[in-house]
Amino acid sequence: MKYKIAPNTYYVGVNDRSKHKFENMLALPNGVSYNSYLLIEDKTVLIDSVESTYTEQHIGNIKSLLGERTLDYVVVNHVEPDHSSGLMFLLSQYPDIKIVTSAKAVPMLQGYYKFPETCFEIVKEGDTLKIGEDRELAFYAAPMVHWPEVIVTYDAKNRILFSADAFGCFGTLDGAVMDTQLDLTKYFNEMYRYYANIVGKYGAPVQAALKKLGGLEISMVCSTHGPVWTEHFPEVMAIYDRLSKYEGEEGVVIVYGSMYGNTELMAESVAQGAVSVTKKVILHDLSKSTMCQVLSDVFRYKGVILGAPTYCNDIFPNMAELMKKLELRGLKNREFGAFGSCTWTDATAKIHKAFAEKMNWELAEQDVVTVKQAMRDEEHSLLYELGRRIAEKSI
Ligand code: FEO
Repeated sequence: MKYKIAPNTYYVGVNDRSKHKFENMLALPNGVSYNSYLLIEDKTVLIDSVESTYTEQHIGNIKSLLGERTLDYVVVNHVEPDHSSGLMFLLSQYPDIKIVTSAKAVPMLQGYYKFPETCFEIVKEGDTLKIGEDRELAFYAAPMVHWPEVIVTYDAKNRILFSADAFGCFGTLDGAVMDTQLDLTKYFNEMYRYYANIVGKYGAPVQAALKKLGGLEISMVCSTHGPVWTEHFPEVMAIYDRLSKYEGEEGVVIVYGSMYGNTELMAESVAQGAVSVTKKVILHDLSKSTMCQVLSDVFRYKGVILGAPTYCNDIFPNMAELMKKLELRGLKNREFGAFGSCTWTDATAKIHKAFAEKMNWELAEQDVVTVKQAMRDEEHSLLYELGRRIAEKSI
């Protein structure tokens, strides 16, 4: 499908409803779009390509608009193969095309695809490319949003920012591409999951990019995934700004692992205490909830309480995995509590304390509760109070 989004400017991307997991890790219940944009002026320019599985559809979209005209340029804002693996087929159709990209992108593209050296036109911060009488594209570096080679492309005439992965989200574009034509509930929910899992580690570079781009007049944002943002861009900007500052919203996420239900009952007691303060309490069983949804919620909300049994004198493996993922992303500023259980020797309290220290999260002695075997009434009270205290700090 193709859609006109501005004068001489078209959406020519594709929807992926087949893939089960993005990057072979992250569940895609709502699919994902690979966005690509075609500018038809004196020069013809494609901005970003698509995943190779969808090349036929992509090239069909382009050809139906270009007819006999050739494609002069393809701007590669970001090399990750969901946006670049289609380039091989694009070059087979348009062999004289110039690839406009950053210097850092060239060895990456060559490593993946081996294009002729002569096809590259390297751009750096502030460079421009004239594509029509009164239209030119300007390029800005946006390193680590989400890879080091990333650039974004700005069309001053139409005030369009082609933002690479920034401001993206999961979710296919069903029947329209503009934010004004879509029910955005799905996309805003998917934005948290996308951000936490893909860009979550790069809060500082995202903040740097937001500051740099803050001076541009922007009416439309064309990301590589999700809707084209116009009227609703301020809401998107607010989400990205908050997440990249690691600021949580009101609410408590309780994440637990449980083998025989005893730790789960502890989680219920914690939840009761938290609900006495706020309705925004989310409970995740790590053996059922997807890791990417858990990460999304922990990124979104201010309070996080982790609970797990001791396992092989270590912590329940799913919990160890979650902790590793949070550590990797350097999530900051969370109100933290923890609980653990064991049958003979507890390993969880020490692990939770070491984790809090690594994350630079405060963990008061009273906010770590341990139970041997099954929970008793006095321990229910301790856990209830734990939930209540963390919730009070998370509103
Ligand atoms: Fe959508 Fe970082 O690629």
